Parts: sequence; structure tokens; C-alpha cells
Amino acid sequence: MNWGGEAIWEAVAPLLPGFTGEVLPQVDSTNTELMRRARAGRIEPVLLVAESQTAGRGRLGRGWASAPGDSLTFSLGLPLAPADWAGLSLAVGVTIAEQLHPLVRLKWPNDLWVDDRKLAGILIETANAGTHSLPRHAVIGVGINVRQPKAEGLSTAPAAVDELLAGTDAPGVLARIAKPLVESVLAFQTFGFAPFHARFDSRDALRDRAVVLSDGTAGTAHGVTDTGGLLVHTAAGMTTVTSAEVSVRPA
Ligand code: BTN
Repeated sequence: MNWGGEAIWEAVAPLLPGFTGEVLPQVDSTNTELMRRARAGRIEPVLLVAESQTAGRGRLGRGWASAPGDSLTFSLGLPLAPADWAGLSLAVGVTIAEQLHPLVRLKWPNDLWVDDRKLAGILIETANAGTHSLPRHAVIGVGINVRQPKAEGLSTAPAAVDELLAGTDAPGVLARIAKPLVESVLAFQTFGFAPFHARFDSRDALRDRAVVLSDGTAGTAHGVTDTGGLLVHTAAGMTTVTSAEVSVRPA
């Protein structure tokens, strides 16, 4: 598969000195691989694409399964020192959504949705980048369904980019998002979540909807705070959720 690596490198290298792009036919997980490298002291900026993953990982210990060609799976690894890490996954999600289609919405904190069906997920991990704690090494993993996968065993069929952009393939999706993603991560490092707040709001899939937190608390979602926490109005009043998994209450 031709990944257009040269064009991506030319676009990204001026933003990230020392940047390399790499495509592996197969790896356990691009996040796991970049975390291994970071722990071994290999902390140069890299965008690692896998054509297939044998142990793709999602948030909260879940897996991320994808068949070769059906999805784009990559991780961006780089040293990063934001004042506050909260909101990074929202900034990443906003950026990818904007590069794909107006119908792509964001389900706090890490998912991209189309019509309440999952299009993409984000898994951000950090490692210490050496003896000093700053900057840390960030591994920003992204999995995007590009073609409709076989939906056996899934209660709701996931969404795929080719519903929105006919004929797109995984390299085409990567070519759209690589440079804007790096620009946004660097902007987040400098300015935090502020430049992304209104953009998140305009794509917020949960706003004004009934939600149930993973601890069972019910409420209504009311957007996000300046640092990317989810505002939920519950029986106890307005609360800010910073890490709990939130799901939309079934109708
Ligand atoms: C989620 O939906 O919970 C997050 C899914 C993240 C999947 C991507 S695929 C590339 C990178 N490598 C992984 O093992 N996971 C992320």
C-alpha cells in the first residue's frame, strides 16, 4: 500500500524537528510499540502506522479490532509539556473531525461519532522521557474505521469514513489529518484547550442529552469546561466529570 510518506514527512518535519514516519505491515499495537520505544529512551517524534495490529488497544482495557484495509491505525509519539493534559484528547478529536466531514461529532472524551455510531477512537498514553519528568513523552493513538467492517457480534454497526467520503482509503485519511493533527497538538501544548473549546461545542454529540455516568449517576450533559471536563447536571446539581466513562442513556 502506498502511504504517501514523503508528502506527510514534508508537511510535518518543519513543525517537528527530527520527525520520522514509519509504516509497519504488522505490530501488536502502535501505542504499545511507541510506549516500549519511549521506555527504551527512543523519544524522537514519530508517526507510526500499522497496516494491521494483532493486539490493538482501546480505552479502559478494551481492545480495538480492525481488519487490514478497513481502518487507519496509527500513533503519534512526541515529547510534550502542556501545562495541563486535560482536554488533549478533545483537541485531537476536534481536529480529526474537522478534517473528515461536517457530520462527524464528538462523544466526550475520546470518540468520534456519526449518527451515534462510533467512527473513531483515541487512546492517549504518556511515558517519562528520561530522568527529568518534563517534557513527558506522549503517545497519541488513533483508530478510524475507513470501510464498513463486518459487524458480526456488535449490537450497533460502527460508522466508517467511506460513508461520508466515497472511495477514501486509509492512506487518504492519513494524508488529510497528519499535518493538522500535529499542528493542533503543538497548539494545545502552548495554549491548552482554549482554542478548541468552541470548536468542540459545535460538534458535541452529548449536549443537552440524557447521559448515565459509569457509576450509575444519571443527568443531562451541558457541554465542557475550559479545561475539557464534561458538565453534567444531576440530581445533586451541576458536576464536572473529568475521567469517568459516560454513556448516553438508552431511550
Ligand atoms: C477507544 O476507542 O477506546 C480507543 C481506540 C484507539 C485505537 C488506536 S488504533 C492505533 C492505536 N494503537 C492501539 O493499540 N490503539 C490505538
